[in-house]
Amino acid sequence: MERILVTGGAGFIGSHIADALLAEGYRVGIVDDLSTGKWENVPSEAAFYQRDICSPELEAVFADFKPNKIIHAAAQVRVTTS
Ligand SMILES: NC(=O)c1ccc[n+]([C@@H]2O[C@H](COP(=O)([O-])OP(=O)(O)OC[C@H]3O[C@@H](n4cnc5c(N)ncnc54)[C@H](O)[C@@H]3O)[C@@H](O)[C@H]2O)c1
Repeated sequence: MERILVTGGAGFIGSHIADALLAEGYRVGIVDDLSTGKWENVPSEAAFYQRDICSPELEAVFADFKPNKIIHAAAQVRVTTS
């Protein structure tokens, strides 16, 4: 079974992606720093890593979860900040 890592999986888009993948039977890992995401959005079946995707600590997430694929949905989405 494929292991899929979803960045931003505590956010709006990422959490829906994670839910859909879990419903299809995939193993799901989530990386999110919870800067705008919410803990309650994280599905209990997913492995959760509270990390900044820009941090070197991401290497340890790859080593631990060993994803086959990554879906990238972590982002700063505020227009004014951008
Ligand atoms: N919401 C929409 O309708 C929509 C539509 C089209 C495209 N998008 C795109 O989808 C992506 C996600 O949007 P969203 O609406 O889910 O936003 P969101 O803010 O709900 O989710 C983004 C997630 O990324 C996390 N995050 C931000 N910076 C991070 C970092 N450095 N490290 C780890 N996690 C980090 C946040 O905590 C949050 O959980 C964006 O690129 C957005 O432009 C969204």
